[in-house]
Amino acid sequence: MKFERTILITGGAGFIGSHVVRLFVNKYPNYRIVNLDALTYAGNLENLRDVEDAANYTFERGDITDDGFINNLFEQYQFNGVIHLAAESHVDRSISDPMSFIKTNIVGTVNLLNAARQTWKNTEGGRFHHVSTDEVYGSLGDEGFFTETTPYDPRSPYSASKASSDHLVNAYYHTYNLPIVISNCSNNYGPNHFPEKLIPLIINNILKNKALPIYGDGKYTRDWLWVKDHASAIDTIFHNGRVGESYNIGGNNEWKNIDLVHKLCDIMDEKLERPQGTARELITFVKDRPGHDRRYAIDASKLMNELGWTPSVKFEEGFRETVDWYLANKTWVDNVTSGAYQQYYENQYA
Ligand code: NAD
Ligand code: DAU
Repeated sequence: MKFERTILITGGAGFIGSHVVRLFVNKYPNYRIVNLDALTYAGNLENLRDVEDAANYTFERGDITDDGFINNLFEQYQFNGVIHLAAESHVDRSISDPMSFIKTNIVGTVNLLNAARQTWKNTEGGRFHHVSTDEVYGSLGDEGFFTETTPYDPRSPYSASKASSDHLVNAYYHTYNLPIVISNCSNNYGPNHFPEKLIPLIINNILKNKALPIYGDGKYTRDWLWVKDHASAIDTIFHNGRVGESYNIGGNNEWKNIDLVHKLCDIMDEKLERPQGTARELITFVKDRPGHDRRYAIDASKLMNELGWTPSVKFEEGFRETVDWYLANKTWVDNVTSGAYQQYYENQYA
């Protein structure tokens, strides 16, 4: 079959990447979608069972820090679009092991930029979409929002590695004319979120009757977006965003951590048919995260006004759907937290 475009999606077996792969495979049958993923602890092909047999989908296992492998992959497929999500993504892990974040998030991104530059030097129509985070902007006080012109001020090894990769992506635009676009998104939630992150961790711990750890005073604030709305924003920006531009993505949905956890506790009590207040008893205030950013809040008006994107799902609806998904997928949670899938892939892709 002849495809109109061949698009590389990196990190497609992870949380957000799997929703992006699914959207593109289903929405664009005339695109060939190649999902490149190293299948680290966070990557999991179970997330893509429903699309793995699609005629326009191919999986490649590989590491973006391996430049020889990346160059060969571009040589083989002649990609004319890249949506780059592969990353080490968890702030707490970046505090205990910064180097793996430097390698994957910075060196890995440069390997992809070099391969795209090499492949597209004589062709029109390439596009490199770098998926980044609002954490590059640092921390807000009680007022205000991050815009695309907010100065970068990363404060964790994770956000510093993402800021560094954003700067390098921009540098390849200015220096080599590489057709890039960057998106900076707020906190995502939804199905397939790895249970080290706040929302799935709390759901899982309530189910297992374990303590619910709240860092510091619990008044840290995040701006939560339904993961499928992030995927639709990436679709919009990849196709219609202006080359060389950055776009903020967010749902205008701020929650203090403690309020969010209270809400989750109450929904879980309702779903588990227990007296209200049962789950709240598990809340435990613990030592704060070092360098913990106080507040994130996104101004997404550039994306909304220029490209017409809007979030589709109300928080109440997305939140309940997320809880239902975790209640229906307890085996998935047990397998990702025990490393069972990873052992299986080691044998399958040995
Ligand atoms: P995730 O940790 O769930 O998934 C990351 C994926 O990348 C995994 O499938 C993993 O196997 C793969 N990967 C890691 N290292 C790799 C390597 N060296 N080579 C190839 N593949 C590798 O992450 P996520 O939460 O889905 O985030 C995806 C992207 O979106 C990241 O770039 C992250 O910075 C960005 N982002 C995340 C959020 C969020 O709320 N989760 C918000 C804004 C931006
Ligand atoms: O803002 C976008 C970012 O959101 C992404 O770039 C990151 O990849 C993603 O992991 C996420 O980062 P956060 O650090 O905001 O997410 P996390 O779920 O780790 O934490 C959310 C908030 O909850 C934060 O203030 C820390 C707090 N927290 C987290 C955990 C895991 C707790 O209080 N207790 C916990 O056990």
